[in-house]
Amino acid sequence: MFINPKIKVMTISILKSTLSRKNLMALTGLFLCFFLVIHLAGNLQLLLPKDRAAESFNSYSALLSGNIFIKIISYVLYFSLIAHAVDALFITIKNRRTTSKYAFDQRKHSSKWYARNMGVLGSILLLFLVIHFKDFWYVYKFGAIPYNQEGQKDLYRIVVGVFQSGWYVGFYVLSMFALGFHLLHGFKSAVRTLGLYHPVYAGYVRIFGKIYSYAITAGFCIIPVYIYFTQFIK
Ligand code: HEM
Repeated sequence: MFINPKIKVMTISILKSTLSRKNLMALTGLFLCFFLVIHLAGNLQLLLPKDRAAESFNSYSALLSGNIFIKIISYVLYFSLIAHAVDALFITIKNRRTTSKYAFDQRKHSSKWYARNMGVLGSILLLFLVIHFKDFWYVYKFGAIPYNQEGQKDLYRIVVGVFQSGWYVGFYVLSMFALGFHLLHGFKSAVRTLGLYHPVYAGYVRIFGKIYSYAITAGFCIIPVYIYFTQFIK
């Protein structure tokens, strides 16, 4: 296929520019924010009484894995995760190179600590995701997983199994705090990057971002903590 060299050069320079990288990061970030709401809603079934939770969670997982529409969304999700992380790396490297030229770094006075450490928080999340994918996603898709009486993969048993360890639950809770701080700055920043941060509703965006970040953090923390402590109740 012939592509006009001018268009080719223009496309490459747009893709290389920090601005479009930031736009892509904002778009993928907001998509990931949306995914987290759906993921949390599905996972909250784990808080149901034990026998109902197992039935409900396994049926839900089976339904999702057999749906072509969900499969397509999953590929968008994997792309978003990778693009978001790669863009973040490029932007961080570029910013480091430019800010190190200044003798005085005044950012401490005008921004929150978590806004200045998005890269560190993102790296904790990356580590979390590697472990998360290994223990849940990989086991569900490719592992030797037990089946329940309905012939469905018993993902409930796998999830409850890993949350019997206090260390593991501690790691999840710490990661969720990293996620919470990452979202607290990320949501607001993404809206601003995309030019949707109009002064008239900037206050609402800030409040919504805060409520969203607190709710996601609390929701994802409660699940492992609840499963861990209910193992002691017979
Ligand atoms: C209590 C916390 C959580 C639990 C119990 C949980 C549970 C699960 C389970 C069981 C799966 C495998 C299901 C499947 O692949 O269909 C999964 C997949 C996944 N989880 Fe989580 N999750 C939690 C938190 C999170 C968080 C905080 C994130 C993101 C920061 C996340 C991102 C993902 C992703 C990207 C997938 C792959 C989804 C797909 O293949 O479509 N999870 N999770």
